[in-house]
Amino acid sequence: MPIRPPFDPVPPSEITPPDVYRERRRFMQGAAALAASPWLGGAGTALAGPKLSGVRAGAYRLDEASTSYKDVTSYNNFYEFGTGKSDPAERARSLRTRPWMVSVEGEVKRAQVWDIDALLKLAPLEERVYRMRCVEGWSMVIPWVGFPLAELIRRAEPTGNARYVEFVTLSDPARMPGQRSRILDWPYTEGLRMDEAMHPLTILAVGLYGEVLPNQNGAPVRLVVPWKYGFKSAKSIVKIRFVEKQPLTAWMAAAPDEYGFYSNVNPKVDHPRWSQARERRIGEFLKRDTLMYNGYGAQVAHLYRGMDLQKYF
Ligand code: MTE
Repeated sequence: MPIRPPFDPVPPSEITPPDVYRERRRFMQGAAALAASPWLGGAGTALAGPKLSGVRAGAYRLDEASTSYKDVTSYNNFYEFGTGKSDPAERARSLRTRPWMVSVEGEVKRAQVWDIDALLKLAPLEERVYRMRCVEGWSMVIPWVGFPLAELIRRAEPTGNARYVEFVTLSDPARMPGQRSRILDWPYTEGLRMDEAMHPLTILAVGLYGEVLPNQNGAPVRLVVPWKYGFKSAKSIVKIRFVEKQPLTAWMAAAPDEYGFYSNVNPKVDHPRWSQARERRIGEFLKRDTLMYNGYGAQVAHLYRGMDLQKYF
């Protein structure tokens, strides 16, 4: 996104430490065995992380090729680790994802604190291949692994006052160097209306390409809302709070004229600095038309019936 503050240079310790080098070698050796498996990144890239077990094919798939594993995991926005696209892959190794707790709180009858390993078993893990569109004008197709957010919401038993859900990312300036710069009002927060949060397309993702979610993609758990611009999909979540009033999100606080609460993919409503009519699929050369609701209109258009989408952008 727009703001480019200076970041600390990459410390020497981050330049291929020996254990990473050995890991890489191990996976290179395993690459031959992987060749016959469906978990092979688009451009023939061998995968690198621990595999998730018991993942079943989900109902939502696409007739479009998935973006290569390499691009999905090396072209990222995760401002906690810097604003450059390659910063998260280089720096998010410092993120520690165990122990990890996710607090579910606010307007609920059963406030809960989930240990991440219990959360991973909350519901059967499914693969969901989704189109993802960033407001900056690029897009990807990503085979996520996760489960519907609705499964967690039902267990929390929201009260009648719960009209919105707020998502909060970890705050850890020691391990997240971007949080030492004031690009956003940390921690990163996002929000959904209750019906959006309950929608069967909305998932909590814990993996991609059949593997544990890489740190740069928001480990150990992140939100995925495929009909909205990518920034709604908050990464490395530690808190899910049910509230009565529409929450102020980090991007709305930073630039209210540029980022609205809804942020639905809409080729007819341009961002002040970027047209939203077309997009470049990472790995492709020519641009393609952006689809209303990112192509998920049949599933989600009813949520916004009668709303002025110019006003509620
Ligand atoms: N979540 C946090 N905590 N911090 C961020 O900077 N960037 C958002 C979103 N979630 C971001 C975040 C943006 S702008 C996008 S496009 C997506 O993450 C990118 O997700 P990906 O890197 O897994 O493709």
